[in-house]
Amino acid sequence: MSSYIIQGGTKLEGKIKISGSKNASLPILAASILNAGTTKLYNVPNIHDTQKMLEILEFLGCKVKKKENKIIIDSSNIKKHEIPEHLMREMRSSVVLAGSLLGKYKTATFSYPGGCDIGARPIDLHLKSFEKLGININENYGKIECKCDKIVGTKINLDFPSVGATENTILAACLAEGVTTISNAAREPEIIDLQNFLNKMGAKIQGAGTNTIEITGVKQLKNVDYNIMPDRIEAGTFLVAGAATGGNIIIDNISWTCIEPIINKLEEANCKLKIEKNSIELQAPKRLKAVDIKTMPYPGFPTDMQSVFAACMTIAKGTSVIVENIFENRYKYAQELKRMGAKITTEGRTAIIKGTKKLQGATVRATDLRGGAALVIAGMVAHGITEIEEIHYILRGYEKFEQKLSNLGAKIYIK
Ligand code: UD1
Repeated sequence: MSSYIIQGGTKLEGKIKISGSKNASLPILAASILNAGTTKLYNVPNIHDTQKMLEILEFLGCKVKKKENKIIIDSSNIKKHEIPEHLMREMRSSVVLAGSLLGKYKTATFSYPGGCDIGARPIDLHLKSFEKLGININENYGKIECKCDKIVGTKINLDFPSVGATENTILAACLAEGVTTISNAAREPEIIDLQNFLNKMGAKIQGAGTNTIEITGVKQLKNVDYNIMPDRIEAGTFLVAGAATGGNIIIDNISWTCIEPIINKLEEANCKLKIEKNSIELQAPKRLKAVDIKTMPYPGFPTDMQSVFAACMTIAKGTSVIVENIFENRYKYAQELKRMGAKITTEGRTAIIKGTKKLQGATVRATDLRGGAALVIAGMVAHGITEIEEIHYILRGYEKFEQKLSNLGAKIYIK
């Protein structure tokens, strides 16, 4: 198992380009199943999760060609409609393959997905939507068999605006008979990217980005090429890393509109931000001011930035209160930050962080993707050396992470 070794104490300075979005790429890769021809994708991040998604597509019968961030998928010869358990367990997003398989072949067999351990992650809302679309579901010892003769459009109201359930419902409904309306849909920008991709492929979807999405079923989809949107969580992570290290960085290839809540919190913490059309410059203050955070569905503060922001609050002036409203167990990293001298206590969904002047390098363990990124930030501001074990979690979601940080001046190596 690899570790990161970080020598703390350097300010991040310079410019980096944000990669393609992980959370947009995964459902779009899965959506290629709906197309019986060729899908060409650009700007797909080369990370563990996208590699695993491509492996599953190949297992199902797709032909995949890959050159750096360009992926070509030929899905004209899919023979299998069952995803084996060991592949489902690789990541949470494997579940969106069900919507695509059902949309195209009216059958899909899978098991409960894996992913980062950040609390119970049920898929009841996904299955409820499938049932509403007329799909029969049979669950046997953890194996979920979904089947129907045809999918007929209907009205679906999600109990919670789940990102995955919204995406799965769109995918299952694209080739349905009639119109499907999803109310209380998730509004995340990645859903707009999925809609834009599917529409370019010939689907008829409108409303993504609002809480009502309407999908008018079409008979067939066509060959498509598409450029994946930039990763707003990667952008936020680098901005916070710049802020925590007292740095001055420019992130390129990102629109401020999709990271507005992160920008607002950084400004509240006394950072100066210069916003251009496709880039953002951050100048950190001498010392950050503590601010409070509550995670919410988009356009609220993203849960994926909660741990990352907490890392910079450990050295801020004052006390911050963080409330995690999306996942029930997203504070595992707090224990690790404490080893570095952070004054952080958690109780249920709340964390209280008393800012201290310095952190001390230590050996810590990444507990999940974003918790791992938080430790990297803490390592860069700490005195001395930090070793972060189990970085495979971090590599799930950040492309060339250590390389990009090194380019900004960080002293970070893989051991
Ligand atoms: C997606 C993102 C993830 C992000 C999350 C919330 C991808 C690949 N992942 O995950 O990075 O943290 O959105 O913004 O896009 N829930 C249920 N039943 C369900 C589905 C969800 O109770 O059937 C609950 C979850 O347990 C969680 C909440 O709803 O508490 C939000 O989950 P959801 O929006 O579905 O997140 P994901 O799609 O898994």
